[in-house]
Amino acid sequence: MRGLAMRPMIRVVAAASLALLASCAARPVADSAAAPLQSGRDYHTLANVDEFRVRHLALDLTVDFDSKRLAGGAELTVERIAGTGRTLVLDTRGLDVAAVEWLAPGAAPQPLAFGVGAEVEHLGAPLAITLPGDLARFTIRIRYATRPDASGLQWVEPAQTAGKVAPFLYSQSQAIHARSWVPLQDSPQVRFTFEATLRVPAGLRALMGAEPVGGPGTDGVFRFDMPQPIPSYLMAIAAGRLEFQPIGSRTGVYAEPEIIAAAAREFADTEKMLETGESLFGPYRWGRYDVLILPPSFPFGGMENPRLSFITPTVIAGDRSLVALIAHELAHSWSGNLVTNATWRDFWLNEGFTVYLESRIMAAVYGPRRAAMEDLLGFQSLERELATLPPAEQVLAIDLRGRDPDDGVTDVPYEKGRFFLRWLESRVGAAPLHAFLQDYFAHFAFQSITVEQFLGYLDSKLLAQHPDTVTAAELDEWIHQPGLPASAIRPASDALVQVDAARAAFLAGTRAATDLPHAGWSTQEWLYFLANLPQQMPRAQLESLDAAFDFTQATNNEIAFNWLQIAIRNDYEPAWPRLEQYLESIGRRKLIVPLYTAMMKTQSGAQRARAVYARARPGYHPITAASLDAIVGAP
Ligand code: BES
Ligand code: ZN
Repeated sequence: MRGLAMRPMIRVVAAASLALLASCAARPVADSAAAPLQSGRDYHTLANVDEFRVRHLALDLTVDFDSKRLAGGAELTVERIAGTGRTLVLDTRGLDVAAVEWLAPGAAPQPLAFGVGAEVEHLGAPLAITLPGDLARFTIRIRYATRPDASGLQWVEPAQTAGKVAPFLYSQSQAIHARSWVPLQDSPQVRFTFEATLRVPAGLRALMGAEPVGGPGTDGVFRFDMPQPIPSYLMAIAAGRLEFQPIGSRTGVYAEPEIIAAAAREFADTEKMLETGESLFGPYRWGRYDVLILPPSFPFGGMENPRLSFITPTVIAGDRSLVALIAHELAHSWSGNLVTNATWRDFWLNEGFTVYLESRIMAAVYGPRRAAMEDLLGFQSLERELATLPPAEQVLAIDLRGRDPDDGVTDVPYEKGRFFLRWLESRVGAAPLHAFLQDYFAHFAFQSITVEQFLGYLDSKLLAQHPDTVTAAELDEWIHQPGLPASAIRPASDALVQVDAARAAFLAGTRAATDLPHAGWSTQEWLYFLANLPQQMPRAQLESLDAAFDFTQATNNEIAFNWLQIAIRNDYEPAWPRLEQYLESIGRRKLIVPLYTAMMKTQSGAQRARAVYARARPGYHPITAASLDAIVGAP
């Protein structure tokens, strides 16, 4: 599905490495789903992580916008954790590896034999390196360059940026795209510290999810240090025409100058959120928390790169109505970045916990009324998605063997995961669960854990202190069975009950659109109003809503998204120009994939989808384009 060229290729290979490459390809990475799944085994790495562990990375990369390549060196300090094997295997995807060198203190670098094996579907290609001995700890340097189509990088043209004068580069490494820009063990169970030197064209600023060292470079050279060990999917890089504006003493915003003031205003509560997070979940272990506003083509809402969340500009609504995204990415500083999923099967430990923490931050900062509305919107979104997902994809501990782990990104790990914790809270009580979570973050800090490790810890701590509150069968149902258990707690929102009443009156014709009691409705109320309109509506109702509230021209991107879905399924053509402009200006997958999908359901819609896709596709991220190629068709 991902648009990667499959190039089976073997480069300069020593005989020993060749044999190993053959055995690598034979490794049961694409195990048939019938074989028993091993908890804790990462089926999405080609690296021999059971023999070696990367402990430190030193990057030195030049950012070349003309050739759309990063080029330079990656020094890996590696520890042997088992055996005496002489071959180190790393993950790569579409990297041009020029040389591998052995770096011994006080000696000249010594070239090592290496080979890049054949591409394995979804996983990239193994880089096998022949080691000169069986040292317990050693350092090697890989000289390499990325390719312009690297799946984890987007090289954004000036026209696609806010300022339109300079190019922009950013990475998106989760789930397994770090290997497309750094040769490493691309597995969430391998944590390493890093340092980096980045060389960018004059006038641009380079950033990483790391601590900048030595102030902003005036010569285009930027240095970074990351003293906390992180998994590879949190490696992040960006370069562009970027300014900084502080929010609080530990928080701030990086953005293009054209949007930095609006961004800083929108996210002014970030410092408060950080303080709230600390009071609820324990110390913040990463130093600073800044956000970087990316171009609108960023395929996600946000990405929790440590110290520097990457954020879509589509949430800058002007009224802070979509800032739950910041609460979410910040919450990953505990769930995800501090305690990390060991494999992509355990992904819900990252996301479900994070949505739960996000909701608690929102309730603390904006009050329970707003949090309850967001909770109910999430619950409904889950219900709707469960109705469309095959049973195997409805389980929290999902089997993703042989698949792209990005396929596991549904509402299940997020919302079912969150409502699992909410259910647990209802059984043991809020205070005990909250205390347990603080202990959990402290206990597993800087570790990567499996679902089974979580359940073991839960059992020995929380459930031991609160016996007979939940049964093993209930836990099994939540973690391993499809659907949403009947014991799930549906969020109650008084505010949204009012919206239900207003919507019903409008649909029954007893209240005109202009008479709806909408004074004081927030974005969440509008989203709930729109998301629960009937699938098919009379044209007159659509026109009266549009006339009263100008939904077609809504500037809030979430409201516009909901309205455009309604317009597509009701063939409401006054919205077409806005729909096209929306699809051409936004690349966030969640906001555009459903629109294209809905358009493809009718012949005329499909025609319009293909036409707008042809124009918009060059501006989309490779991840978004790959998703859409499968829906709209590759050009
Ligand atoms: N870590 C995710 C984004 C992600 C997940 C990227 C898996 C690639 C693979 C991030 O924290 C996230 O969940 N983003 C959401 C935000 C939302 C749930 C508030 C998004 O992008 O929509
Ligand atoms: Zn997340």
